Amino acid sequence: MKIYLAEHRGFCYGVNRAIDIALNARNEKLPVHTLGPIIHNPQMVSRLKEQGIDVAEKLTDISTGKVIIRSHGVGPDVYKQAEDKNLDVVDATCPHVKKAQQAAYNLLQAGYQVVIIGEENHPEVKSIFAWSNSNAHVIETSEDAKALPDYPRLGVVAQTTFAADKFLTIVKILETKCDELKIERTICTATDLRQQAAIDLAKKVNVMIVVGGRNSANTARLANVCRDTGCTTYHIESAAELRPEWFSNVQAAGITAGASTPDWVIEEVYSKMEEMSLGNVVKLETGSVIKGTVVGIRHDEVFVDIG
Ligand code: F3S
Repeated sequence: MKIYLAEHRGFCYGVNRAIDIALNARNEKLPVHTLGPIIHNPQMVSRLKEQGIDVAEKLTDISTGKVIIRSHGVGPDVYKQAEDKNLDVVDATCPHVKKAQQAAYNLLQAGYQVVIIGEENHPEVKSIFAWSNSNAHVIETSEDAKALPDYPRLGVVAQTTFAADKFLTIVKILETKCDELKIERTICTATDLRQQAAIDLAKKVNVMIVVGGRNSANTARLANVCRDTGCTTYHIESAAELRPEWFSNVQAAGITAGASTPDWVIEEVYSKMEEMSLGNVVKLETGSVIKGTVVGIRHDEVFVDIG
């Protein structure tokens, strides 16, 4: 079995940046919390915990020290509350998300009815909604768009990770709902690139493995775009979930990963699939005596076909 990695996969610029900012905020004397998990990846969250960076679900759970705003961003009210509590705010909001928040705010100030295209319960969408003074429509589907009343002026902002093709379909419907439509193109290219690379790869292979947290919206979407190509697709969080039967009679498999999946998790998945692809082949443990033919050597590991 051949194993291919999607050309664009894993951590995006905004997530890398947020993790760097969080690590630089470590402080031995002060408690450091992220407001919500820094990324939707349980392994990364526990690594940060080992470094002394805890997760607080709400500001009321933090009484002192530093609070890190994650890449999804927050509304203006949260900055105000943190300031009132004398917390040291470390802002790791992704600049692309900031742009979407600012766009929503500007559209509102300019007299547009703001429409946010995205998932209502996603933290980033909640933050953009808050910057629209909680005065926007949040829609996710064509049906939602059709159900909107008519307005003289609509201003549109997208969740940064929204699928570009779905966005265009919805925008076309919104055009029929108003006299003037202003569109802020806030979809981040990291998402487009990952989705396109996943689609390209899914068309070439028999099985796609999509790696990322189950609560990661962009990972779930990567899995969906792969499935839409007709390719058998499995969404996993770690190598431990891989099953050998997924790869029986498979000539080629692909791997992609959501924007919140660390490289080391992708590498573990790749290595495990490599082992599985060898069929009756086992990894020779140090000191073990196994009869068979050596079929592969990788780094300091030896693989033997036991027939
Ligand atoms: Fe930012 Fe785009 Fe990543 S919006 S957090 S760079 S997916």
